[in-house]
Amino acid sequence: MDLDFNRRLSIAPMLDCTDRHERYFLRLISKNILLYSEMVVSTGLLHCKDPELFLGHEDCEMPAVLQLGGSDPAELAAASKMVERAGFGEVNLNCGCPSDRVQNGNFGACLMKDKNLVADCFKAMQDAISIPVSIKCRIGVDEFDSWDFFRDFVGTIADAGCRIFIIHARKAWLKGLSPKENREVPPLKYEFVHNLKAEMPQLNISINGGIKTLDQVEEQLKDLDGVMVGREAYENPWFLRDADERIFCDGRFPAKPGMTKEGKPASRKAVLEAYLPYVEKEFSKGTPATILTRHLYGLFTGLPGARKFRQVLSQEAPKTKDAAGMLRQAMDLVVED
Ligand SMILES: Cc1cc2nc3c(=O)[nH]c(=O)nc-3n(C[C@H](O)[C@H](O)[C@H](O)COP(=O)(O)O)c2cc1C
Repeated sequence: MDLDFNRRLSIAPMLDCTDRHERYFLRLISKNILLYSEMVVSTGLLHCKDPELFLGHEDCEMPAVLQLGGSDPAELAAASKMVERAGFGEVNLNCGCPSDRVQNGNFGACLMKDKNLVADCFKAMQDAISIPVSIKCRIGVDEFDSWDFFRDFVGTIADAGCRIFIIHARKAWLKGLSPKENREVPPLKYEFVHNLKAEMPQLNISINGGIKTLDQVEEQLKDLDGVMVGREAYENPWFLRDADERIFCDGRFPAKPGMTKEGKPASRKAVLEAYLPYVEKEFSKGTPATILTRHLYGLFTGLPGARKFRQVLSQEAPKTKDAAGMLRQAMDLVVED
């Protein structure tokens, strides 16, 4: 099994956010960040008429991980095979999502209450494929929030052979809190993740939750293997600009048009310039302009004209006949030094 791709900085799976277009866009900012898909429910993947809807991607998105939601080992194994065949580098099992829909399907965070089932799911998935299977979980769920509970959960899955864990460092309250509140209300306890790494140094452990700057990423990397960032990457993707240089120490990539010689994008507009041909290609295949531009709203945050940029996208994208032209017009309204 190849544990080898670099997990130092990854972008969290986010429903309605980290679709293939967002991943393509973020890849233009960093060549090295590890990109996670939105959660795909295993049953949905197995029974859907057009799996390409979930599995479609561009080669340049790699390394990328597809996250599955489910709790049936056989189904998860079959879905994992589809993910491997589609060319993803890893499959992740969601044990952290608290939404009602997910609880009704008996997966997501409520799986943390059944460590043996998670171990069975992991084993079935890993036996079915040769790319790694990882687990994303919380540090606890409901009243099960002690250190012993958390260590026991991870230890059981590790005994089943799992080596890669991504830990959202707060517990989930399954009753009474919305998914949004479950990302804000329970306190972050980074020490759980650090203690885990100290106790189980053989595991590859990434921390997640509330991280917003590359300084914070570097700080966490002193003790841990990886850092996963969600909302900040979506709302302010430009903070990733120096990621290749600072986090991956990367001199391997030749400069491309719009990139400075270190390989990082010269400006936010250079990122969009590089995104335009993709918009043109996808729009001509029938992808709506709204879908292609909805992830771009945060790119110019803080710059003069950013509001106008967003306004043009929201007003014009639903009716435009020329998505790339519309995007160019919108970006021309932004003033960037
Ligand atoms: C809009 C949104 C959708 C999310 N969808 C998923 C998901 O599909 N699977 C998952 O494991 N976590 C999901 N999450 C949780 C994130 O992966 C991450 O754990 C959480 O946002 C904490 O990280 P952050 O503080 O860096 O945002 C979602 C978060 C947001 C904001």
